[in-house]
Amino acid sequence: MLKLENVVAGYGRTRILNGVSMNVPSGGLVALLGGNGTGKSTTLKSIVGLVAVQQGQVELNGNAINAVPAEERVAHGLSLVPQGKEVFSAMSVEENLLMGAFHRRRDRKMIAEDLEGIYGRFRRLKERRRVDAGLLSGGERQMLSIGRSLMARPSVLLLDEPSAALAPRVVEEIAEAILNLRSLGLTLLLVEQNVGMALDIADYIYVIRGGRIAYEREVGSGIAMEELQEFYLGAERH
Ligand SMILES: Nc1ncnc2c1ncn2[C@@H]1O[C@H](COP(=O)(O)OP(=O)(O)O)[C@@H](O)[C@H]1O
Ligand SMILES: [Mg+2]
Repeated sequence: MLKLENVVAGYGRTRILNGVSMNVPSGGLVALLGGNGTGKSTTLKSIVGLVAVQQGQVELNGNAINAVPAEERVAHGLSLVPQGKEVFSAMSVEENLLMGAFHRRRDRKMIAEDLEGIYGRFRRLKERRRVDAGLLSGGERQMLSIGRSLMARPSVLLLDEPSAALAPRVVEEIAEAILNLRSLGLTLLLVEQNVGMALDIADYIYVIRGGRIAYEREVGSGIAMEELQEFYLGAERH
């Protein structure tokens, strides 16, 4: 469904991705792992069009989307939950969620239904719907950030380190929420530094290093955690 073929991308003259190839099948939950600054966020940004692809191809459902502007990629079903649990602090939880549906503003009835769907999935967001987003806990902000992306009715959801800086109990809640989305049929690409969490929920993993995919494997095919962690830590030394 989502495919990257030898994607080269970066900032100005600085190349960060040197030919990244990945495949995220429809309904799959794929994790992209790697050390700090290895290009995980850059990969997600190149998929949603926030970073220009210089060479190679990003394909969605068999169509190259390199030339499609970022705003339009949302309408194609791509949605990014950015790193850092960014929310509009001075706006209420509900206003934040509604921002996620801005591109289909006229669709009032559907938007109201989607809002209820998200409140059903994230009960705490419902309880806090009138509260300023700036007052939420880290876990609640992450849920809000995911909820806002869901308001765009994506078919492919990209999540950038949703578990970062959260207590283990909250990480579990987020992991459950992600599995839940998968069971609804969403296609998911998850960037994580939390290797354990990624192995718990993903069915396939990629490790990025030196701007390329350096390791990939199906989860459950006997991935040795030690092998992976050694590789992962090795990546950080580079
Ligand atoms: N807007 C930017 N301008 C210039 N360099 C950037 C920018 N964003 C990220 N970088 C650099 O690109 C590299 C990869 O960053 P990033 O994709 O954010 O890594 P990761 O998400 O794996 O931690 C880093 O060296 C980072 O400093
Ligand atoms: Mg990042």
